[in-house]
Amino acid sequence: MSHAPSDQASGATPSLRAHVTLPQIQRWKDEGRPLAMLTAYDAPTALVADAAGVDILLVGDSVGNVCLGFETTLPVTMAMMNHHVEAVARTKPKALLVADMPYLSFHLSVEDTLRNAGGFLQRGAQAVKLEGGAKRLAMIHALVDAEIPVMGHLGLTPQSVNAMGGYKVQGRAEAEALAILDDAVSLQEAGCFALVLEGIPADLATRITETLHIPTLGIGAGLHCSGQVLVFHDLLGLLPQRPAKFVRKYLEGFDLMKDATERWIADVRSGAFPGLAESYKLPEEIRPAVASWQPGRRR
Ligand code: KIV
Repeated sequence: MSHAPSDQASGATPSLRAHVTLPQIQRWKDEGRPLAMLTAYDAPTALVADAAGVDILLVGDSVGNVCLGFETTLPVTMAMMNHHVEAVARTKPKALLVADMPYLSFHLSVEDTLRNAGGFLQRGAQAVKLEGGAKRLAMIHALVDAEIPVMGHLGLTPQSVNAMGGYKVQGRAEAEALAILDDAVSLQEAGCFALVLEGIPADLATRITETLHIPTLGIGAGLHCSGQVLVFHDLLGLLPQRPAKFVRKYLEGFDLMKDATERWIADVRSGAFPGLAESYKLPEEIRPAVASWQPGRRR
């Protein structure tokens, strides 16, 4: 953001809608009102998504691939996540703010997990998300006991890229599909308030959604989840590479932003920017002194 002098208006129009809470998320699921969740990693994207009325904002560890240039999410640290959670929290979104637990932040010990997740809440998140099934139950129990709401994440869990042998749709084999169903029930029983279902067949996601009473949020998991989640940069078409099969672009953001930038560069080079309207003026009475000023001569 540029630093607008105080005589100019700045900042976004505050939203009139009420803050989204965990009970509200459950009520919407019970009423059959689909949930919309988007990632946000910084203030501008959080402001846009929140102004549009998104229900849940996720500061995802996908920030690693989307913004920080990593090939996987594995190098993302708590320090990086805290930095982005703070940026989004400062915008005071009305959407429920969920912070993603990065790799190794919930694997070492209960104490370490609680400190990391509790730190997210102290920075303004209302809940945390973590990847994995049965192996993560002990940590999920401890978090829920400490009043830290947990969103689970099953299926194609990007932090398991090495174990999965790449980013592959999960749950196509019988044993895999049944294990994901078992995990979904275990996570609900452990107290998760919602589940992300990523990269699984749509019919498996439907079966899980019908089975659970907590909401499911699908990404590459078909229509019949309780809601959908997308990486905001994918929705906006900001990433130049070809989008994944499950992404629908609602804007050719990359091309639009490139075009705007090309026009600005052309205006700079032709002298068309800035114009008078974009410039400040000396007060009339100061002009003679400035015009007659000579280097080294003080009044
Ligand atoms: O990190 C992330 O963006 C995610 C979503 C894709 C669910 O985990």
